[in-house]
Amino acid sequence: MSAAGASFLFLLLSTVAAASSITTLSSDIAALKAIKSSIKPTTIPSYTCLHSWDFTSDPCSPPRVTHFLCGVTCSGNRVTQLTLDPAGYVGTLSPLVSQLTQLITIDLTDNKFSGPIPSSLFFLPNLQTLNLGSNSFSGVIPPSVSNLKKIQTLDISRNSLSGSLPNTLTSLSQLTRLDLSFNKLTGPIPGLPKNIIQLALKGNSLSGYLQKQSFQGLTQLETVELSENSLAGTIPGWFFLIPSLQQVNLAKNSFTGVEIFKPIDSNLVAVDLGFNRITGYPPTNFSAYPMLASLTLSYNKLRGRIPWEYSKKPTLSRLFLDGNYLIGLPPKEFFSGKTSISGSLGDNCLKLCPVSSELCVKSQKPLSICKQAYRGKLKPKS
Ligand SMILES: *[C@@H]1O[C@H](CO)[C@@H](O)[C@H](O)[C@H]1NC(C)=O
Repeated sequence: MSAAGASFLFLLLSTVAAASSITTLSSDIAALKAIKSSIKPTTIPSYTCLHSWDFTSDPCSPPRVTHFLCGVTCSGNRVTQLTLDPAGYVGTLSPLVSQLTQLITIDLTDNKFSGPIPSSLFFLPNLQTLNLGSNSFSGVIPPSVSNLKKIQTLDISRNSLSGSLPNTLTSLSQLTRLDLSFNKLTGPIPGLPKNIIQLALKGNSLSGYLQKQSFQGLTQLETVELSENSLAGTIPGWFFLIPSLQQVNLAKNSFTGVEIFKPIDSNLVAVDLGFNRITGYPPTNFSAYPMLASLTLSYNKLRGRIPWEYSKKPTLSRLFLDGNYLIGLPPKEFFSGKTSISGSLGDNCLKLCPVSSELCVKSQKPLSICKQAYRGKLKPKS
């Protein structure tokens, strides 16, 4: 045996020797037992992590060759991570999970957990990542969620949560990623955590206006995904001036207007306001956003001409204005071959949109509908 091989073997043996002295804290073992026994046994096939949880051996003692192969990570004699495989486990989450007080990560993504999220879980003092996405958890997110002082990622997307969002989220100062998309949440958007970077609340039934007090003081916010809700009113000008903002999706809501101010500095790259009820002219001020590459205003009630500024903007590579009542001639720069813009100008009231261009493949509205929209007067105003 080589010297390296020998020292490796020595290292291995001494690790085993050291490890075999570990005995998992009994309350952690009790919690793991309770977690396993809250899962329907018929949904624990032999190839899964949970199947390898055999309590005749100690959960935290390596080497884990036959028992506790996965799903649990320890530090010393305490469980620090509960990361189940997406095996389709059916059951509930035992409230005893809160005995695992050293937990840093819980990840139960892509299973069939149902029932409420045990309220005790929101008192885990060290939890940094809570990932319960794609399950069937129901009930509300309680105000006590604010006890998760160290939480950084909170993802309970694709469940059946209901009720409104608690107004205690502001105190989660470490939270950078919040994803509660595709639930049944109602009510307004509350005050948001100060250091949030990614906000995703897509596919709920949130209502009300975008209010300044919800977004006040957010300096890290980069991604806002609020599409498929019932948000209403005018999208206010201050919103797009949040300096860190990069991507905004407010599509499929009930917004009726949009106000765009010129930024001093902005990282905004992509904006989707499609499928709302926004009236007025297409906002020229969007062209003042230096990085803007993708703009979607499809299926609103916009009128007037396409701002020529859009065609003079080299960063803009995707432009969707289809499904409005835009009139006049589209800027010829779109078709000169100099710009490489893609998107759609179809389903409007434009004159001479060349069908040779991809932008004009979708045909324009019938003249009768356009005349009706402008009450017979089809003259460009702006
Ligand atoms: C464009 O931005 C300027 C400067 O922020 C603002 O005064 C003006 O009202 C905006 N125009 C529109 C049509 O919103």
